[in-house]
Amino acid sequence: MYTFVVRDENSTVYAEVAKILLASGQWKRLKRDNPKFNLMLGERNRLPFGRLGHEPGLVQLVNYYRGADKLCRKASLVKLIKTSPELTETCTWFPESYVIYPTNEKTPAMRARNGLPDLANAPRTDEREEFRSSFNKKKENEEGNVWIAKSSSGAKGEGILISSDATELLDFIDNQGQVHVIQKYLESPLLLEPGHRKFDIRSWVLVDNQYNIYLYREGVLRTSSEPYSDTNFQDMTSHLTNHCIQKEHSKNYGRYEEGNEMFFEEFNQYLVTSLNINLENSILCQIKEIIRVCLSCLEPAISTKYLPYHSFQLFGFDFMVDKNLKVWLIEVNGAPACAQKLYAELCKGIVDLAISSVFPLNEENHKPTEDNVFIKL
Ligand SMILES: Nc1ncnc2c1ncn2[C@@H]1O[C@H](COP(=O)(O)OP(=O)(O)O)[C@@H](O)[C@H]1O
Ligand SMILES: [Mg+2]
Repeated sequence: MYTFVVRDENSTVYAEVAKILLASGQWKRLKRDNPKFNLMLGERNRLPFGRLGHEPGLVQLVNYYRGADKLCRKASLVKLIKTSPELTETCTWFPESYVIYPTNEKTPAMRARNGLPDLANAPRTDEREEFRSSFNKKKENEEGNVWIAKSSSGAKGEGILISSDATELLDFIDNQGQVHVIQKYLESPLLLEPGHRKFDIRSWVLVDNQYNIYLYREGVLRTSSEPYSDTNFQDMTSHLTNHCIQKEHSKNYGRYEEGNEMFFEEFNQYLVTSLNINLENSILCQIKEIIRVCLSCLEPAISTKYLPYHSFQLFGFDFMVDKNLKVWLIEVNGAPACAQKLYAELCKGIVDLAISSVFPLNEENHKPTEDNVFIKL
């Protein structure tokens, strides 16, 4: 019998995982503070990494990677991309971005003077001068100059400003309490018809304890239900595709897709019929490469292969597609929720690929996930 503890009562994904473990008849749940567990389904920001793997005779596994936040906070992602040699040279899939610290914060930020070395070595390096000079250059060249300001740890489309006025963007951030990112706004997204609507794509990615990277075959488009405008950037419902923004503010919520969600099969059909291309060859191939590069670049820093405990983690990678069918990474979520109809299959995949690879189940009363449900990258 293996044992696990649950320390996060709010995670719907790990509630489902716990259910599957118990149903296998080969796992027992312990009280949350019992240290003699094999598996900890932990609380994201309160993981006792230093204490893991020190119980004599016990192999211990936890559902997060220490340090994965480098990918999952917006400002750290910008820093990671600008300072990792593997990424800076090849990264053409992340919108131009700058890290900005509000001037009203008590601890003053350092101006970036020396470019990348500053960003890599000084923890609080502010890139507003770099942003201003890029902004001015685009203005001179009469290029598109719309930008989006978002807080580093923000979520659900809250606290976002879209503007083509540099001072307005910086003033907005200077009145906030935490580090932000100013990012080039993708002004010409691929739009869905009917309705002329923007969308983003969520893909779920599982990294197991051997750092195998698996992409879940099913993904979801989160669609807007208001027409896209390339002149009005005030109306958030046409520009932010977050589920809560659409649900709360769009009068057309649910009109085109149930819950403003379109799954890959339907999206593929759409691409075939309207553009004569398929999802795999036009978009998924780019998505796979971006996921692989991002996670590989972090591997030396976070891998638990040689540590006394093991980690695995589920990530949510969010992408946009522009009208030239180029895929852009928008953000990475370190504790993603899951679309309702996918829970059962996704969570079974977590158990089979990431947990049972360390603690094998007797397959008599447990049928393993089929090979094609998760694609190994
Ligand atoms: N660079 C961008 N260009 C165009 N749209 C963007 C860009 N960044 C974000 N968005 C839109 O704004 C939404 C919210 O941004 P995101 O970075 O995901 O922040 P949050 O954490 O609030 O979800 C995205 O789902 C997307 O619709
Ligand atoms: Mg988002």
